[in-house]
Amino acid sequence: MARKILVTSALPYANGSIHLGHLVEYIQTDIWVRFQKMQGHDVHYVCADDTHGTPIMLRAQNEGITPEQLIDRVWHEHKADFDGFHVEFDHYGSTNSDETKRYAQDIYRKLRANDLIETKSVEQFYDPVKEMFLPDRFIKGECPKCHAKDQYGDNCEACGATYAPIELINPYSAVSGAQPERRSSEHYFFKLSDARCQEFLSAWTQGTQCEQTIAPLQAEAANKMREWFEAGLSNWDISRDAPYFGFEIPDAPGKFFYVWLDAPVGYMGSFKKLCELKGLDFDSYWNKDSQTELYHFIGKDILYFHSLFWPAMLRFSGLRTPTQIFAHGFLTVNGEKMSKSRGTFITADSFLKQSLNPEHLRYYYAAKLNGTMEDIDLNLEDFVARVNSDLVGKYVNIASRTAGFISKKFDGEVAKAEQLAGCDGAVLMGEFLAMSEQIATAYAQRDFGRAIREIMKLADRANEYVAQQAPWALSKQEGQASKLHEVCTVSLNMFRLLTLYLKPILPKLAEQVEQFLNISPLSWSDAAIPLSGKINDYSHLMTRIDPKNIEAMVEANKQTLAPAAEIVAAKPAISPIAETISIDDFGKVDLRVAHIVNAEHVEGAEKLLKLTLDIGEAQPRTVFAGIKSAYDPEKLKGRMTVMVANLAPRKMKFGMSEGMVLAASGDTPGLFVLSPDCGAQPGMRIK
Ligand code: 2FM
Ligand code: ZN
Repeated sequence: MARKILVTSALPYANGSIHLGHLVEYIQTDIWVRFQKMQGHDVHYVCADDTHGTPIMLRAQNEGITPEQLIDRVWHEHKADFDGFHVEFDHYGSTNSDETKRYAQDIYRKLRANDLIETKSVEQFYDPVKEMFLPDRFIKGECPKCHAKDQYGDNCEACGATYAPIELINPYSAVSGAQPERRSSEHYFFKLSDARCQEFLSAWTQGTQCEQTIAPLQAEAANKMREWFEAGLSNWDISRDAPYFGFEIPDAPGKFFYVWLDAPVGYMGSFKKLCELKGLDFDSYWNKDSQTELYHFIGKDILYFHSLFWPAMLRFSGLRTPTQIFAHGFLTVNGEKMSKSRGTFITADSFLKQSLNPEHLRYYYAAKLNGTMEDIDLNLEDFVARVNSDLVGKYVNIASRTAGFISKKFDGEVAKAEQLAGCDGAVLMGEFLAMSEQIATAYAQRDFGRAIREIMKLADRANEYVAQQAPWALSKQEGQASKLHEVCTVSLNMFRLLTLYLKPILPKLAEQVEQFLNISPLSWSDAAIPLSGKINDYSHLMTRIDPKNIEAMVEANKQTLAPAAEIVAAKPAISPIAETISIDDFGKVDLRVAHIVNAEHVEGAEKLLKLTLDIGEAQPRTVFAGIKSAYDPEKLKGRMTVMVANLAPRKMKFGMSEGMVLAASGDTPGLFVLSPDCGAQPGMRIK
């Protein structure tokens, strides 16, 4: 019976290009979906762009466009990349849709009604210039461990240390450059620590909920979950303060859903659109007692969201939970993490632009995928060798060495089934057919590597057969026409079955083959139907990969991606405060290192502190400085600073001021007294 299956891949963020790392998942899912469709099941494959959050909001600002304009442009880029790699969604939407908004808000309201939402004050870094709270990745500063400068708020790229943003030394906002302040605001939490959630999730992740007939997680993922459970589940912060590009939380003005709250709801939103387009019954897929199957393909890095937060959101808002979550590993290129400087951070677009064949990558990934969470490696040399040997050298070769005889000698007509009955080739064809189930099982288990090994073993057998029978020799021998007809027909029948087996991986090539063999689109149940009637002339099916194209692609990625594609605060030029001066003009200012011997409040003065400064003279100087708002006098005592020693003394209400200390200030709040580096002595000249 046809199963009803809904499949998703993780929604890519709308703030970057699709790269070969992303494609592992989309290709993996697409192969599985195509296989299930070939089995005759009722399968829907949906995805969408993940469009919300601070990075997208800031990128749009940087580009001088609205977030809506940005996500629209990126949607088209992503869609073109997926089309280019034959990733065929039944619907590709956007989380910034009415449907996703409605479901996100509905789910939230139901969680709230179930007493699973609470609010709590949270202290975070706040950028006083941009007037926004800063996510960790937008705070930079000095690493508290190794003191490397300009490290991110959560980890140091120089020494690998992880820490909280508040531990950074001299933190600054990567958005405006301002010194961040710590501010509190009210946040909304999903109470995952509630006993109901704990109880449900500990059973659900291990597959022991009564409605579960199948474990939802791979064994390695279920083990990881157990570890996480032992560490304890905390409540999940689902809100972010304005300004934020996302959906407002009902009854909470100025509060938005954190992007990860509405991202998975995007699966529902995108599917809802598909239901409207195709007249499908949305509720029968999502209601609590749904008999349909729901599979999420994801990377292992987002397992936490999909195996804990998402099932809990669904469960406690009265919806069905996923049937299974299929996590895969990361992609390495040439055995290493993808790298922009080495040119191995390869965009989907740059691959297609080098006229490389997307089906070659689909084949290579499939050969490496085995349904586990292990990382897979794209070794570029091996990629060329494997594709050229397997697909061109073995598979396509079977047709290219035999089809011409059918066209030339038999007017395109293949031998009739009766003619083949009992011949050697018929036995071999039977063996090919007998593999159908094993290959199908490997596909169903997402062990595409095993499927390919079995298929290539068959391709080897077919090539051995062709070599032994040598149709080119038969064609020259008298009285061998019937044998030639038989051998070429058997070969093409084997080729047809290999095409059927490879079709989930090579859908476009399969289409070309179907056209050439003059058959209707192959589905799994066609396996036993041999070729009959006329075929079309063979035309070239696949070209070898030229390693030069690979080199050019790596080069292109070195060039185009060299400047980090991150948001860097645009630093405006300073506006000049005076005419340009000469070095001689500057030399007239006598700047000296000063030791603050004493600092005290001045009775009746609103802004001033009275400083006693030693600059190596017999008598210390007195300076009245307007820094009271920023400094506690006690903290200034003993510090070194910089003063202008030859400023004309000025008589003030509180006494004579004999110079001036230097301090920085700007558009943002704060006043910062200058200090020389360690070792400077009072009276030293500054020039
Ligand atoms: O990790 C990511 O790239 C996220 N954009 C994936 C979201 S998947 C789903 F939950 F929407
Ligand atoms: Zn460090």
